[in-house]
Amino acid sequence: MEHILVTGGAGYIGSHTLVELIKSGYRVTVIDTLERSEIKIIEGVEKITNTKVDFHKINCLDYLALDSLFSKYKFNAIIHFAAYKSVNESVVKPIEYYKNNIESLLTLLEVMKKHQVNDLIFSSSCTVYGQPDSIPVDESAPFKRAESPYGASKQLCERILEDAATVEFRIISLRYFNPIGAHESALIGELPIGIPNNLVPYVTQTAAGLREKLTVFGNDYNTPDGSCVRDFIHVVDVANAHVRAIDYLSRHPKNGSFEAFNLGTGTGVSVLELVNKFIEVTGIQLPFTIGPRRPGDIEKVYADPKKIRDAFGWQTNYSLGESLLHAWNWEKKIRNK
Ligand code: UD1
Repeated sequence: MEHILVTGGAGYIGSHTLVELIKSGYRVTVIDTLERSEIKIIEGVEKITNTKVDFHKINCLDYLALDSLFSKYKFNAIIHFAAYKSVNESVVKPIEYYKNNIESLLTLLEVMKKHQVNDLIFSSSCTVYGQPDSIPVDESAPFKRAESPYGASKQLCERILEDAATVEFRIISLRYFNPIGAHESALIGELPIGIPNNLVPYVTQTAAGLREKLTVFGNDYNTPDGSCVRDFIHVVDVANAHVRAIDYLSRHPKNGSFEAFNLGTGTGVSVLELVNKFIEVTGIQLPFTIGPRRPGDIEKVYADPKKIRDAFGWQTNYSLGESLLHAWNWEKKIRNK
């Protein structure tokens, strides 16, 4: 049985990936600091899979703790989710973001090298492209200057990985578009800290009565209805792609490789379309208003997912409506409604 180390496995995408890995027959070990998640997420994974999860409260910056974990187990591959991910927070805490996101990757690579573990799947973001010159955006699009330290940290990590891969590693970087939704069991999902910045958690919290109303940031963009366009993808579809990526690496035993893949649906959906779809599938009259543009927002971006479909034989299984319904079911669950 292949043994996978999942860093940041108590997080939003990490926890959904654990479920898919366990369902596919992988043995998993999880490390997470729990500074931005809760142990109940791991318990949710255990309930869904009926499997005890091997969990360790370890920070990826802690070389000695990682070294001793790698001495204990012989991992076949690592999936590295552990990172800070708030765009806004990164602007006010740039040093913390660079230290956490870059140093943790470097520490992990050092330990992997020492223990001769070569396979790594890295969590990247479509934010590396900035506003691309043409859409749908494919993997050959150049990186524009990042708008935030968070975005810059992802660009820098990819550069580090590209250089590291010229030695012994086999590395895949998955560039996520906009993951939304939750597991359909409503036992795991996203746990936003404070007032959410991202659209779907704000929508579900407004529907649950925690927020007065949603503000749609701008309706004067050059898009069909004037609101921004994104590629929203169900988090379980995102999770599944990680299992495919592990399988792809084991089928392509070539050392010194770095490959990046877009992870999106390929369909652009506007903010207003998403809001209307939420109202349609939940029957809730979501209060919303149109506000000014949010600084730094990109007008429209969605993926060309051909490369990942062809290489992994991966496709999405969930619709936008299902994604929103699952996000809402999770919100109700955490509010005990
Ligand atoms: C951002 C980050 C991305 C990160 C992702 C998930 C950028 C350029 N991208 O994506 O790197 O991976 O978050 O953390 O910063 N919106 C509203 N009202 C709201 C909230 C959002 O209208 O209350 C709109 C935004 O203006 C945007 C869309 O919804 O047009 C999606 O916003 P959001 O969920 O924050 O994701 P991104 O900004 O696309």
